[in-house]
Formats: sequence, C-alpha cells, structure tokens
Amino acid sequence: MNNLKIVDWEIYNLIREEEKRQADVLEMIPSENYTSRAVMEALGSVLTNKYSEGYPKRRYYQGNKIADAVEQLAIDRAKKLFGVPYVNVQALSGSPANAAVYFGLLDYKDKIMGLSLAFGGHLTHGAPLTFSSRFFTSVQYQLGKDGYLDYDAIEKLAIKEKPKLIICGFTAYPRIIDFKRFGEIADKVGAYLMADISHITGLIIAGVHSSPVPYVHIVTTTTHKTLRGPRGALIMVTEKGLKKNPDLPKKIDSAIIPGLQGGPHDNQTAAIAVALKEAGSSSFKKYGEQIVKNNKALAEELVKYDFNLVSGGTDNHLILIDLRNKKINGKVAAFALEIAGIVLNMNGVPFDTMPPLYPSGIRLGTPAITTRGMKEKEMVKIAEWINKVIDEVKGTSLPGDRQERVGFMKSFRKKAEKNKKLLEIAKEIKSFCSKFPVP
Ligand SMILES: Cc1ncc(COP(=O)(O)O)c(C=O)c1O
Repeated sequence: MNNLKIVDWEIYNLIREEEKRQADVLEMIPSENYTSRAVMEALGSVLTNKYSEGYPKRRYYQGNKIADAVEQLAIDRAKKLFGVPYVNVQALSGSPANAAVYFGLLDYKDKIMGLSLAFGGHLTHGAPLTFSSRFFTSVQYQLGKDGYLDYDAIEKLAIKEKPKLIICGFTAYPRIIDFKRFGEIADKVGAYLMADISHITGLIIAGVHSSPVPYVHIVTTTTHKTLRGPRGALIMVTEKGLKKNPDLPKKIDSAIIPGLQGGPHDNQTAAIAVALKEAGSSSFKKYGEQIVKNNKALAEELVKYDFNLVSGGTDNHLILIDLRNKKINGKVAAFALEIAGIVLNMNGVPFDTMPPLYPSGIRLGTPAITTRGMKEKEMVKIAEWINKVIDEVKGTSLPGDRQERVGFMKSFRKKAEKNKKLLEIAKEIKSFCSKFPVP
C-alpha cells in the first residue's frame, strides 16, 4: 500500500490498525471471515474504473468486452457450483439481493412470510421498519419453545395467511433447515419459496449441509460469510423456479437494473468469481467440514461451563447463547469479551423479554477462526477464555430504566477497559492468535 501511504496517511494508518486488530483477536462473529489475498487483489483492481450498466453482451456503455467476460465467468462458476440454470451476480449485497427478488416477483402490499427477527430471521425477511414490511405485507413465523423450527406451526400459518412468498434461511439459527419440508408447505399454498442461504452457503458448497436447490424456486446468498468472498450477493433461480414461472430470470434481472441499481461493481464481480473458484476446490470442502467440527466442539465445551445454548447445541457454524442463567446481559457480555480479545455480537434469544439494544444473548461462530487453521483442540481453550470472561463480569445487573442504562454502559465500559483480568486474557489471546496467521 505504498501509494496510499503517500497520498493519505490517515486512511493508511487506519487500515494498518484494522489489519492488526483482525490479527490479534478471535474474530467470532459468524457472518465474518478472512477473504484471500487473491480475492482482495481482484477487488482492488482496475475493474473498479469501468461502467457496465446492463448484462453481458447487453450493455448501455461501450468498452465492456472484458467486463462481459468477467461477469460471465462469475455466472458460470456459480451455476456449476450450486447446480442452477440462472444466476444474477450484480446485487451489491445481501439486502439489495432480497429486495430485488421481492420487487421482481411481488406487487405492492403482496404478502411475504419469514422468520421474525427476534427469532433469528434477517431484517429483510419482513422485520418492522424495513422496506420488506413497509412495501409488502409481512407475516412472521417464530421458533418453537425448544428453539427449533416448528414446521407444523409454519404450515398452519401459511395455510391461514396464504402468502405469495415464503422465506426460509436465517441469520441466527444454529440448526439444520429442512428445505424439503419448506418446499412442501410452499407448494401446498401455491407460494413462491425463497431460501436465503447467506449464512450457510459455504457449508452447502462443502457438502456439509444439504442444498435447498431441489425444493425452492429462488436462492439468494451473500458472498462474504462462510463462502469467504468479497461483500456481494448472488440471486439464483432453480429448475423448480423456472417451471413455476419461466419469466423469473427476466423479472429479477430487471428488478436489479433499472429497478434498484445502476452499474454493477465489476471489481466486486471479479472478486466473487475468484471466491467461487476457490470454493470449488477440495480444500474448501475440508474447510467447510472443519467449521462445523470446530463449532460442535466449542458448543460441547461451553455446555460443560453451564452455558445455555439455544436449542441445546448446533449443527452449523454458529452458536446462540442465552445468558440469563449467568445473570448478565448480552450487550455487557459482548463488550467485556471484546476487551478480552473475543469479538462476537449481542443477540436476542427466542422469547426474549429484553429490547434489541439490550438482548439476553450473544451469537458466535467459527468460520473466521477456522480460516486461520484453528481446530477442535483450540476450541477447548477458547471456551475456557469465554467462561473466564463471563465469570469475571457476571452478576453485573443492568438498570431497568432506559436512560440509566446508557450511563451504566458508559461506566461499565470505562471499568472493563481497565480490568486486569480481561486485559490479561487479551494478551494471552494475542499471543495465541499469532500462531494462526491471517491468510
Ligand atoms: C440471512 C441473511 N440475509 C441477508 C443478509 C444481508 O446481507 P448484507 O449485510 O450484505 O446486506 C444477512 C446479513 O447478515 C443475512 O444474515
């Protein structure tokens, strides 16, 4: 980054600091990962200079022969990897991808049915305040008391509400999804079925989780989570989708441009193509398998320390911990863990009585630390550190009054930043992390 250093030392220094931060801590936010140098080179290439409104061989601007080839490669690789007949690679991220599907398929106020945000669905799956509930009529399903999807209840709701689109695939669900059962429910009520596999794409490609492709009409995914690519997204139509409506590809293409976006980011498309090539390798299969092995090992260790895992465990890359038995709020815990070098996020748990800004749980996972080469043995140590941190701060009770909470968090932060035990753990973690280089 020699040029950057000369032109803008402030941004240069901030990027260097972030590089160091990412190396020195355990990155355990389940939607994050370390992308490869090859992906970053494509992302930082001259392709960022080009305008390519339209699609390969159908552009509004000249000079797109190379951009066409790049986009076609990304499309062909995605088609092969997922086994689908149509892919759009232009959505700038996961939320615009989902928006393009809704605007492409539905009319204003048509009914959609997704998992509630409070139970692990994504904002774009019909949550209040988002475009998905303001432009469409949103009906939301929940998890059962055991923390698992309750397919009978989902079917009942679908029969009652008759949504035009059902969404499966989630943001904070630690268990296997029965896409076949979702397919049967959607077929029964004549709804389109979309699987948003953003979180588990890498696991599906690696063959660790089964693919929704035979059972759903549309698949969306981000490219930057378990897939380990740049930020971006794919929208795919399956054979089943084409059978239901042969115009789906056209509808989605035009929902992206002119519907929602202008020109695609060709550098991002190239980086997605590189990530898809990497994901097709045998080493990626091993990577996907190791993510789950690590996560299961971590879950087992956490249970030994009396952590209450939603649904009792995990089948995938993420774990949701309900901290109420530890007498500590998720926000407070996440902050203390960050000071100690364990980066994860606060998260609501099913039937949470706390508001989203002060939820009762935390969410963590293994995609990024597995990229660094950590294995089951390391999970034992990580669980021990998590337990030590929570032990240090548990019993820190949050004021009931909203205004008081803000002041409380400020003073807790100040204290935690100077807490000797937390800082000691951070030091240990930094030295531990240096043995697992970032790619
Ligand atoms: C299931 C799911 N879909 C969509 C998205 C949105 O992706 P983005 O943040 O790229 O808009 C996320 C992000 O976390 C997600 O978990």
